[in-house]
Amino acid sequence: MTPTEHSASAAGAWPALRLAIAGIGLVGQRHADAISQVPGLTLCAIVDPSDAGKEEAQARNVACYGDLQQMIEAEAPDGIILSTPTKLHVAQGRQCLDAGIPVLIEKPLADDLAAAASLVERSEQVDVALLVGHHRRHNPLIRKAHEYITQGRIGDVRAMQATCWFYKPDAYFDVAPWRKQGGAGPISVNLVHDIDLMRHLCGEITSVQAQAAPSARGHENEDVAAALLTFDNGAIGTITVSDSIVAPWSWEMTAHEYPVYPTTSQSAYQIGGSHGALSVPDLTLWTHEEVRDWWTPISATSVLRDTSDPLINQMVHFAAVIRGDETPLVSGREGLRSLAVVDAIQRSAKSNELIRLEEGGANVALASMREKKETKMTNQAH
Ligand SMILES: NC(=O)c1ccc[n+]([C@@H]2O[C@H](COP(=O)([O-])OP(=O)(O)OC[C@H]3O[C@@H](n4cnc5c(N)ncnc54)[C@H](O)[C@@H]3O)[C@@H](O)[C@H]2O)c1
Repeated sequence: MTPTEHSASAAGAWPALRLAIAGIGLVGQRHADAISQVPGLTLCAIVDPSDAGKEEAQARNVACYGDLQQMIEAEAPDGIILSTPTKLHVAQGRQCLDAGIPVLIEKPLADDLAAAASLVERSEQVDVALLVGHHRRHNPLIRKAHEYITQGRIGDVRAMQATCWFYKPDAYFDVAPWRKQGGAGPISVNLVHDIDLMRHLCGEITSVQAQAAPSARGHENEDVAAALLTFDNGAIGTITVSDSIVAPWSWEMTAHEYPVYPTTSQSAYQIGGSHGALSVPDLTLWTHEEVRDWWTPISATSVLRDTSDPLINQMVHFAAVIRGDETPLVSGREGLRSLAVVDAIQRSAKSNELIRLEEGGANVALASMREKKETKMTNQAH
């Protein structure tokens, strides 16, 4: 059953779920559009203190609040989507959890790893669902790539390379100045999506070594970065990101997911295995025709997959989680693991050192927190 079919059958059996959105900017509006397309869901309120937010709420004919807590008390929604600036995610996520309301928090989960870890721990303590908006995992083409890899269609995964290059215009930064400030650079804002997919497709990341260059436009962040990654299965990954390179190789331009981006027929990821290779998102499978030998012909097969909007699929899934029918595909802990890798990339880019992530998984964030504490204590001791 597809997610949409799932929602249609569930919708008949359940009363409509009332969802609220905090932050009705660029991505919040897309969530509102997604809600309007899922049977059995209704947008009950918007939280946004800006004039543009109030106008957006008026246009959508829903109540607008300037404050999240006020909205929670007045509306008691069934679920909340937080698409506010990243710096607000932890405090606002905590408000949702404390009110016992399941929350879907946009990526990245936070701009601070330790605070993100405590938010995830809180969600586990109070047993209220926390989902992270890594919506690409809800794209059918990622489901297909994951299926091919886990079925062994390319053999053992040995390497993955990912390219995340595009040019964000000055206006993108000028309309929302937080995008120029520390913590909102392409490593944090963009790379975290790709890291999440690398982990999803290839396994846990156990170490990173990174380099970055400061923004040529004078923002508080990097504008180009590269990282060398190792996975727990022995595979090696490379990834580069830039918001200041003109190029056709990014998920945005190759996945055909969001019509505001022009499309190219290139791919953004190459995954190499002992028996074949897969490029994503174009989903081309490369294998030698008879024997594995670089002197024998190699052929490409286009992998068939369905197309559907991952943001709508994610909303359908959020509703199923609220109703208790599904467990989160990208839980708070999953979002935390991707954030821990991004945090390690940032630290490695600053220190030029290789950073190991303990067990690459469950303990990764806590290990990183411990390391930070130890560094602080060492610094204090000197
Ligand atoms: N999943 C994705 O592909 C994707 C894409 C873009 C952005 N994002 C993430 O979504 C978040 C928002 O990004 P954006 O580009 O939409 O930002 P934006 O600046 O366009 O929108 C943020 C909105 O939040 C509002 N806001 C500010 N303070 C608020 C408060 N206290 N309470 C409620 N609303 C408040 C602002 O007025 C604005 O309307 C970021 O975390 C970003 O990383 C995710």
